Amino acid sequence: MSYPYQIKTQAQYHQAYARSVQEPEAFWSDIADHFVWKKKWDRVLDWNFTEPRVAWFSGAQLNITENCLDRHLPDKSDQPAIIWEPNDPSEPNRILTYGDLHRQVCLFAQVLLNNGIKKGDRVCIYMGMVPELAIAVLACARIGAIHSVIFGGFSAQSISDRLQDAGASCIVTCDGAFRGAKDIPLKAVIDEALTGNTIVNTVLVYARTRTGVSMIKGRDHWWDEEMEKASQQVLESGSLLPAATMEAEDPLFILYTSGSTGKPKGVVHTQAGYMIWANYTFVNVFQYQPGQIHFCTADIGWITGHSYILYGPLSAGATTLMFEGIPTWPDPGRFWNIVDKYKVNILYTAPTAIRSLMSFGLDPLANKDLSSLQVLGTVGEPINEEAWHWYHQQVGKGDCPIVDTWWQTETGGCLISNMAGVTPGIPAWASLPLPGVQPILVDENGKECVEPDEKGIVKGNLCMRFPWPGILRTTYGDHERCRTNYFATYPGLYFTGDGALRDANGNYRITGRVDDVLNVSGHRLGTAEVENAINMHAGVVESAVVGYPHEIKGQGVYAYVIVEHLHGDETQMRRDILQTVSQQIGPIAKPDKIQFVSGLPKTRSGKIMRRILRKIAEGELAQLGDTSTLLDPAVVEEIAKGRIV
Ligand code: PRX
Repeated sequence: MSYPYQIKTQAQYHQAYARSVQEPEAFWSDIADHFVWKKKWDRVLDWNFTEPRVAWFSGAQLNITENCLDRHLPDKSDQPAIIWEPNDPSEPNRILTYGDLHRQVCLFAQVLLNNGIKKGDRVCIYMGMVPELAIAVLACARIGAIHSVIFGGFSAQSISDRLQDAGASCIVTCDGAFRGAKDIPLKAVIDEALTGNTIVNTVLVYARTRTGVSMIKGRDHWWDEEMEKASQQVLESGSLLPAATMEAEDPLFILYTSGSTGKPKGVVHTQAGYMIWANYTFVNVFQYQPGQIHFCTADIGWITGHSYILYGPLSAGATTLMFEGIPTWPDPGRFWNIVDKYKVNILYTAPTAIRSLMSFGLDPLANKDLSSLQVLGTVGEPINEEAWHWYHQQVGKGDCPIVDTWWQTETGGCLISNMAGVTPGIPAWASLPLPGVQPILVDENGKECVEPDEKGIVKGNLCMRFPWPGILRTTYGDHERCRTNYFATYPGLYFTGDGALRDANGNYRITGRVDDVLNVSGHRLGTAEVENAINMHAGVVESAVVGYPHEIKGQGVYAYVIVEHLHGDETQMRRDILQTVSQQIGPIAKPDKIQFVSGLPKTRSGKIMRRILRKIAEGELAQLGDTSTLLDPAVVEEIAKGRIV
């Protein structure tokens, strides 16, 4: 398979970019011609950012799994589609060829049908990083059920909220998951999440860890037994399940992500536009060449795994490596062992992982053959220059381009990134917008920022003025929330929530969130979400959460908490609060620092002055600014004194 739309030179990039702006419909229609359709589109694009409404390839019919699987057969029947590396390196690995994956997906799609799941139904997937997770995702897509993958680190409460919001009737899970030295009891968490739930009637359980689980008669079924039944059906009928016909704008999946207010929202992506965007960006950003091995270290529970472990690579007929474990177990050389073992060509990971591995020095890299690496990538948060250089020198041996890919759950795939070896990479800069992406920087009033400073840099809030095929279409069950969150701050624009700089050559550097969203180890958390969890704890009167720079995680979580009175000592109370946050959201949201305070800095109208709390958390005590307008200025001094270092 070759990619006629793969950009090979800088000149081609500029040409493609210009055409994507001047004649977007012709540009995307030419690219879409290289995919498999059951019926072609009537219109390429309809859009209006006020409602908002975006529709790509209206009238077209397709199935994304035909593009990810069927079209590669029989040519790639024996080519590895997924290489799976288990958590424990002494356990055998698994390799699923395109032929194997196609068969397994068709069988599990049959299992879903056998269990009454229909097109449009929501299926929640809560599994560890096993090949069956990929199979479950694709099987949903095969029958047109909407998948909602929930990261294995979320708590029962979070799952329960998401199940409710999506109205999911089916869950696919595992008995447990291996992650490093831990064995996480996924099915038990699901059981807890299902207490009181009356909508879920089917739970399909893949046995991975063989931990004891409770199986409720009539509701819970073992994966293997169900697959066996489906195999029998195929034997009898003599054919595998054909792919359902989907409309271009039918939803493909929901993925929950945190915002600055309220509970996480269900970002909705649709069939055709998402497919084209995931594929186009995969092929161009990473410059994938047939036969290469692509290793994206994300979890499929996040958008990065959806787009660059599954849909992007598979739609391009690539070989994608899926890793069950963590970078530091059994030792911090694990990534390098994997690169060496499989001769990985493309490595895509997060700055937080790089910084964490850097902290172990160079020993873990010794005697690892990394010469197969050709392209490196980062995603999820700004990469600091030190980590960039370490990655470039120690991992890429100074020889591999690094793509710094900026994007979001809402964008479906990369929006701003250099393209490996084609457009230049600049340390800590995401660099140029991809074709189809039209960024604009605006000030707080929505006025376009155009005046450069003395260094030629323009600074502002990052927005997009035109839709690309992978843009979110709505937030599940609440379109108004989609409008107010993304399209209302600056009318006529999609607001990313990020701040950015632009240099004279049009390169962008992302400076971080400008809203109340934290980015902890590349994971998004809303400050309000963490505060609500803390406030659930008995005895807590009020809390305020801010981010502060953290050497490894990028941002750490600092919580200021007012309690009625301390039960036991402070350490005990801290432990209890952490436990409550774990229960409410999951361990990833646990504050790194909790400071007990007697009051919070508030304006006379009762608004918490987070700016001051942020400065205290950052240790910039000399720069607290004017505190005279506060209700109780004395509280600032008290908080600053009690700051946790
Ligand atoms: O702040 C930006 C940061 O991550 C946010 C999106 O988070 P999420 O939806 O979880 O998706 C992460 C994976 C795509 C963005 O608003 N971010 C992501 N990539 C970068 C980044 N910040 C700087 N540089 C990046 N390359």
